[in-house]
Amino acid sequence: MVSLVGVLSGLTLTLTLVALHYAKGTGWEAPEDISQEVLEQRAATVPETDFPEPYNRAIGGGGATAIPAGEAEGELGETEETEAEAGFDPDDIADDDVEYYEIEFAKEGETIEVANNETLLDAGEEGGWDLPYACREGQCISCAGQITDGPAEEYIRHSNNGSLMDDDLDDGYCLTCTAYPTEGFTLETSESP
Ligand code: FES
Repeated sequence: MVSLVGVLSGLTLTLTLVALHYAKGTGWEAPEDISQEVLEQRAATVPETDFPEPYNRAIGGGGATAIPAGEAEGELGETEETEAEAGFDPDDIADDDVEYYEIEFAKEGETIEVANNETLLDAGEEGGWDLPYACREGQCISCAGQITDGPAEEYIRHSNNGSLMDDDLDDGYCLTCTAYPTEGFTLETSESP
C-alpha cells in the first residue's frame, strides 16, 4: 500500500524545487575582472624612463631608479663593444688566414708551432703533454698559464674568458683552453694568478 505521508513528502519536495527554480535571484553579481586595473595601478607607482614601451618602466618598482636614455645607450654601447672583443670565434678564420706562431712551452722544454685557430691547451696536448684543465670553456681557471713576454692580450685572443680580470691579463695570465695565439711567446703552464 502506498504511504500517504511518502506521497505528500514527495509532492512537497517537488513543489519546493519548482518554486526555487523560478524564484528571483539575490541580485548578487560576480565582480568584473580587476586584474588589468591592479596592473595599471602598480605600473603607475614605478618611475618612467626614456625607453620606449614596453621597456619604459623599471621592473619591480619599490624605489627603482629611472635610467637616463644617454646613460643607457652608453652602457649598451660598452656591452656591445665588450662582446665584440670577446666574441672571437676561431671558426671565422678562413683557411687562407691560418697562421702559425712559435710558442715555447718553458716547463716542457720545447717550442712548438701553434695555429691561430688552435688553443694553447689543444696544441700542448697534441705535443704529448699532460696539461691541467677542467671545463675547457674558459669558465674555471684550472688551465691557466702565464705568458712571460708581457700582457696576455698582446699575444693571444680568448674565445671565452670567464675567470681572468684585466690585471691578470696584464700580468700575462691566460686560459690555455680558450687562448689562441696572435704572436710567438714563451708560456709557463700551470701558473695562475
Ligand atoms: S679549463 Fe676551465 S678555464 Fe680552462
